[in-house]
Parts: sequence; C-alpha cells; structure tokens
Amino acid sequence: MAPYLFLCLFLFFPHLYASFSSSGSHSCSSLIQFKDSFSITEDASYCNGIAGLKSYPKTNSWKEGTDCCSWDGVTCDHLNAHVIALDLSCSWLYGNFPSNSTLFLLPHLQKLNLAYNEFNLSEIPSELGRFTSLLYLDLSSTGFVGDKHALEGLVQNLTEVRHLFLDGMEMASVNAHVFMNLSSSLRSLSLAGCDLQGKFPKNIFDLPNLNLLNLGDNQNLNLDPLKLNRSSNLEHLDLSWTSFSTEFIDSVDNLQALKYLDLSGNSFFQGLSVSITNLSCLEQLIISGANFFGGLPDSVGNLVSLKFLDLSYSNLSGPVPKSLGNLLQLTHLDLSGNQLSGQIPRSLGNLLQLTYLGLWQNQLSGQIPRSLGNLLQLTYLGLWQNQLNGQIPLSILNLTQLEYLRIAENALKGSIPDEVTAFPNLISLDLTNNLLSGALPSWLYTSPSLKDIKLSQNQFSGHIKEFQSKSLELIELQNNKLQGPLPSSIFQFLNLTKLNLSSNNLTGVIAFSMFSNLPNLEYLDLSYNSLSLTSNTTSSVNLTSLFLSSCNLSEFPQFLKGLKV
Ligand SMILES: *[C@@H]1O[C@H](CO)[C@@H](O)[C@H](O)[C@H]1NC(C)=O
Ligand SMILES: *[C@@H]1O[C@H](CO)[C@@H](O)[C@H](O)[C@H]1NC(C)=O
Ligand SMILES: *[C@@H]1O[C@H](CO)[C@@H](O)[C@H](O)[C@H]1NC(C)=O
Ligand SMILES: *[C@@H]1O[C@H](CO)[C@@H](O)[C@H](O)[C@H]1NC(C)=O
Ligand SMILES: *[C@@H]1O[C@H](CO)[C@@H](O)[C@H](O)[C@H]1NC(C)=O
Ligand SMILES: *[C@@H]1O[C@H](CO)[C@@H](O)[C@H](O)[C@H]1NC(C)=O
Ligand SMILES: *[C@@H]1O[C@H](CO)[C@@H](O)[C@H](O)[C@H]1NC(C)=O
Ligand SMILES: *[C@@H]1O[C@H](CO)[C@@H](O)[C@H](O)[C@H]1NC(C)=O
Ligand SMILES: *[C@@H]1O[C@H](CO)[C@@H](O)[C@H](O)[C@H]1NC(C)=O
Ligand SMILES: *[C@@H]1O[C@H](CO)[C@@H](O)[C@H](O)[C@H]1NC(C)=O
Ligand SMILES: *[C@@H]1O[C@H](CO)[C@@H](O)[C@H](O)[C@H]1NC(C)=O
Ligand SMILES: *[C@@H]1O[C@H](CO)[C@@H](O)[C@H](O)[C@H]1NC(C)=O
Repeated sequence: MAPYLFLCLFLFFPHLYASFSSSGSHSCSSLIQFKDSFSITEDASYCNGIAGLKSYPKTNSWKEGTDCCSWDGVTCDHLNAHVIALDLSCSWLYGNFPSNSTLFLLPHLQKLNLAYNEFNLSEIPSELGRFTSLLYLDLSSTGFVGDKHALEGLVQNLTEVRHLFLDGMEMASVNAHVFMNLSSSLRSLSLAGCDLQGKFPKNIFDLPNLNLLNLGDNQNLNLDPLKLNRSSNLEHLDLSWTSFSTEFIDSVDNLQALKYLDLSGNSFFQGLSVSITNLSCLEQLIISGANFFGGLPDSVGNLVSLKFLDLSYSNLSGPVPKSLGNLLQLTHLDLSGNQLSGQIPRSLGNLLQLTYLGLWQNQLSGQIPRSLGNLLQLTYLGLWQNQLNGQIPLSILNLTQLEYLRIAENALKGSIPDEVTAFPNLISLDLTNNLLSGALPSWLYTSPSLKDIKLSQNQFSGHIKEFQSKSLELIELQNNKLQGPLPSSIFQFLNLTKLNLSSNNLTGVIAFSMFSNLPNLEYLDLSYNSLSLTSNTTSSVNLTSLFLSSCNLSEFPQFLKGLKV
C-alpha cells in the first residue's frame, strides 16, 4: 500500500515532489542566483498605486533549501514542478541585468513579469528569445534599453506571445517594423514611451485577437495611413501623443468593441468627431492636451456606457451639450481648460454617479444650476475661472461627500449657503475673488478635515470665529471686511504654513511670540488692519515672509533682531 500512497501524494501535492526532484531544486538555485545578481533598493522604479500593484521586495522571502514553487512571485507547473511563471513586478530589484543571467536556465517559463524594477540601462538580452513558449512578457519601466538586433532576436522567437508590454523601454535606434512578425495569438501590445521610429507595421491592426494596443507617447512614430480593420476586437487603444491621419478619426467607429480610447496630445481639424460618438461600448474617453478645432456634438450623449470622460485643455469651443446628461454611468467628467461658453446645463444634475466634475478655466456664464445639488457622490467640484454669477445655490449643501470645492474667480454674489453640519469631508475651499458677502459660514469652523481656506478678495464681514480643524495649513482671508480679534485657536494649528489676514478691519492686541508656537508657519501677513503687536521675547519664528504694514508695533525694534525673515 505504501508506495501507492506515496504516488498519490505526489499526484495531488506535486510541490512535495518538487522539493525532492533534482530538476526542481536546480530551478530553485537558478532563482537564488538570479536574486543575488541584484541589490534591493526601495521602490527602485516608482510603481506605487499603478494598476493596483503592491510595491515590496518579493525576493526577500526567498530562502535557500525551501521549495521555490512556494516562493512569492513563483508559479510551478503542478505536474512536473517546472517554474512556469515569474512575477517580480515592483520588487525593488536594482542593478545591471547580466546577459548570462541564470534566469535563462528556466526554459519552461511561460510568463515573465519584471515590470517596475531598475536594470540600470542594461541592454535587453536577446537570450530572452530562448523562452520560445513565452505567452506573457512584461518589461515595462525596467530601465532596459532596446537595441535593434537584440529586439529582433527576441521578437522573432516570441512566436506564441499573447501579451507583450515594453513601455518606457528606450528604443530610439529601433525601427517599428521589428514588431511586424508578431503572431495572430497576440492580444496585448504595449509600447508606450519607447521613442519608436519609423512606420508602424500595418498588419498589427489586422491581428484578429488584438485586444489592447498602446502606442502612446511615441512622437516620431509614423502611423499613417492608419486604417482600422472593421473586424477588429480592440477594446483598449492608446494613441496619445502620436500623430495619425484624420481618416483614422473618421473611421474609428469601425472599432465597435472599444472600451478605452486615449487620443490625448494630438491635433484634430474638427471638433469631437461624431465617429467617436458612435462607439457605444466606450467606457473611458480621454483626449486631453489635444487641439480641437470646434466643439462637442450633441451626439456625445450617445456614449451611454461612458464612465470616465476627460476632454480637458483641448481648445474645445461652443456650448456644453445638454445631452451629456444622458451619460448616467459617468463618474468623472473633466472639460476644464477649454473655451466652452454658455450656461452649465441643468441636465448635469442627472449624473448621479459623478464623483468628479471639472469645468474650470472656460467661459461659462449664468448661474450654477441648482440641480448640481443632486450629485450626492461628488467629491470634487471645480468651476473656477469662469464668468458664473448669481448666488451659490442652497442645494450645494446636499453635497456631503465634497472634499474640494473650488469656484474662485467668478462673479458669484450673496452669502455662502450655511448649515452647521454641511461638508463634513471638506479638505479644500477656494472661493477667492468673487463678490460674496455676509458672515463666514458656520460649516467653515466645524468641518473637521479642512486644510485650505481661500476666501480672499470678497466682501465677507463679521468676526472670525474659532476653527475646529486642527489640520489647517493655509488660511487666506485678505481683502475682505472682517472685524474683531484674531481667533486664538489659530495658534494651535501646528501645520499652518500660511496665514494672510491683510486688508480687513481686525482689531486687538497679539503677543507676537505666540507665532513661535507654529513651527511650520512660513508666510504671515497681518498688514492693513487695526492690530497691535507686542512681544516680550525675541524667540525666533521660522518665517520667510512677514508683512506688518500699518500694524501698531509698540515693541517692534526689539523683537525684529530675533527674526530670521
Ligand atoms: C549602473 O550603471 C552605471 C553606469 O554604467 C555603473 O557605473 C553602476 O555601477 C551601475 N550600478 C549597478 C548597481 O550595477
Ligand atoms: C556571468 O558572467 C560573468 C562575467 O562576465 C561572471 O563573472 C559570472 O560568474 C557569470 N555568471 C554566471 C551565473 O555564469
Ligand atoms: C531562437 O530560438 C532558436 C530555437 O528555437 C534558438 O536556437 C535561438 O538561439 C533563439 N534566439 C535567441 C536570440 O535566443
Ligand atoms: C518577418 O518574417 C519574414 C518572413 O519570414 C522575414 O523575411 C522578415 O525578415 C521578418 N522580419 C522581421 C523584422 O523579423
Ligand atoms: C481584417 O482582418 C482580417 C483578419 O483578422 C483579414 O482577413 C482582413 O483582410 C482584414 N481586412 C482588411 C480590410 O484589412
Ligand atoms: C453612427 O451609427 C449610426 C447607426 O448606428 C449610423 O447611421 C451613422 O452613420 C454613424 N455615424 C457615423 C458618423 O459613423
Ligand atoms: C482653437 O479653436 C478655434 C476654433 O474653434 C480656432 O480658431 C483656433 O485657431 C484654435 N486654436 C488653436 C491654437 O489651434
Ligand atoms: C438638495 O437640496 C434641496 C434644497 O436645499 C432639497 O430640496 C433637495 O431635496 C435636495 N436633494 C437631494 C437629492 O437631497
Ligand atoms: C500635520 O501634518 C503631518 C505631516 O503631513 C500629518 O502627519 C499630521 O496628521 C498633520 N496634523 C494634523 C492635525 O492634521
Ligand atoms: C472698521 O470698524 C470700525 C468699527 O469697528 C468702523 O468704525 C470702521 O468704519 C471700519 N473700517 C472699515 C474700513 O470698514
Ligand atoms: C525652523 O526650521 C528649521 C528647519 O526648517 C527647524 O530645524 C527649526 O526647528 C525651526 N524652528 C522653529 C522655531 O520652528
Ligand atoms: C510673554 O507673553 C506670553 C503671552 O502674553 C506669556 O504666556 C509668556 O509667559 C510671556 N513670557 C515672558 C518671558 O514673559
């Protein structure tokens, strides 16, 4: 019975077998040697937060004498314990990549991911071409340099490869045609920021299984004529910061499977193409830093699957179409930095999933629609530098998730809507340079997370009360009509770096030495008020800028000596 039992054990727990087998332990020692050929440098290639990757030194847990099939980042074939996958992305590996690396002694590798490590401008080893069964290769952001011959040797042998990611690899000496023979198995090809030269091989667009193509940030790549195959299954296309023909834009509606399209940084000789608005599966559309010649067609409202729309800084003109209100899945809408004019359509209040709304730096006029108060998920509202007028609608108090409220440099008037419990999550408030008046709202004092308060150049009046947020870093209330004494809570905000209260009508006596309680204070402006400053000490404060014009400085000459301004 015993031998059969053993056999069964090995059948069902093949890693047990691996730890005894000679080929298994051979792979393990190759891996140890591979690990030892690098040093570990914290975040050698910055990757935190990218695509949900966790950044830590995976190889630190690799221990000689243990079964490498159980090591972090290593996957073995269960039948014969061959190492078939190695994922060491974001593992802090640093150093030159040796061309005789013991990695090449793992002939059964099907998946190799070394993305986000730093190989110190090593040439990409053509020996990677030995992995003829490689299905997945990710060498993004590794500091490899792609030499023409090495890449040819490698790519020629990757006959099975389905996913190839080489983003950020320097390929200035490489003609894009080295990629012409990739097989019909190819699903992902990502060559962003490679500085590729020459004509991109046209046949890539005909590969029937191609799902992801990223050629972004390759200014010298020739994509003309770019004609996309009607039977394409592309879901993810990034052609940002490249240049392509208008013909492509007019035929982009061939790509009916497309979910992600990034055309940022390109020039268009029209507004947003109606051809793009025919892509009914599109979930993310990003055309930022581009140059449009015209505006947004009403048909943009046909993109009903859209979740993320960023058309910022792209010279779009004309009105914001009402039809945007049809895009009920939208969570992110950014049209800032354009020449859009007219009113903000009320229909934007339909976008109940919206968390981010950016319309700043346009020429929008009229009132802020009350309907924006329906956007209960909103965390970011940026409308600054427009020509909005009228009062801030009361409904804005509904936006309890707001973290950023920025409507500076408009012509808003009246008082700020008030309710003590409003905006419990607010971090930053900027209403600078409007015509707002009345008392500062009570939520300003109670919002527990506030860091920045910018309310300068308005007509606010009344006293400044005690703030409750200990997180305050910046307070700008200059050029208003505020009265009364400085609230004493200000001296508790250890993170305060800037305090500007100039040109108000503040009164009272302040012991200047109190400011030395604020270790981070760099900028203090109390000028043009009716404040008296006293000092009984020369203890230093760490200011780089101090303005006290027209303050009553009874002991100024004495403490001036102690200041390092
Ligand atoms: C990185 O490359 C430079 C220049 O080639 C070299 O001087 C340095 O030793 C290399 N660093 C490591 C860790 O290999
Ligand atoms: C790789 O080559 C270098 C010399 O170029 C040598 O010092 C090193 O021992 C070799 N490593 C292996 C694993 O063969
Ligand atoms: C490509 O594969 C062949 C055999 O399949 C091998 O002889 C050759 O060395 C490989 N090329 C490179 C660059 O590894
Ligand atoms: C592509 O394959 C053809 C036919 O096998 C060959 O003539 C050509 O040199 C290959 N091109 C590259 C860049 O590998
Ligand atoms: C589109 O690709 C298919 C293969 O996927 C090919 O048969 C067809 O000729 C291509 N069409 C055009 C117009 O290139
Ligand atoms: C958009 O699609 C509709 C049918 O869905 C078609 O009639 C129309 O011609 C297409 N428009 C463009 C510009 O492709
Ligand atoms: C921006 O678009 C307008 C037309 O809407 C055009 O007149 C202007 O030249 C464009 N600006 C640039 C820099 O191309
Ligand atoms: C938003 O606020 C307004 C008035 O302030 C109120 O009438 C409306 O019911 C609120 N809407 C939601 C969705 O809470
Ligand atoms: C002050 O800043 C430090 C460093 O950014 C931060 O860790 C701390 O939480 C801040 N204090 C408050 C009260 O917000
Ligand atoms: C400042 O306040 C005093 C009374 O507190 C008032 O008499 C004076 O007019 C105010 N000055 C300005 C410039 O508002
Ligand atoms: C002033 O700043 C320096 C360094 O920026 C710091 O070492 C010192 O403790 C600070 N002094 C005070 C009084 O906060
Ligand atoms: C200076 O004045 C402050 C507040 O008025 C007081 O707390 C402190 O004890 C005084 N220091 C000295 C050295 O008199």
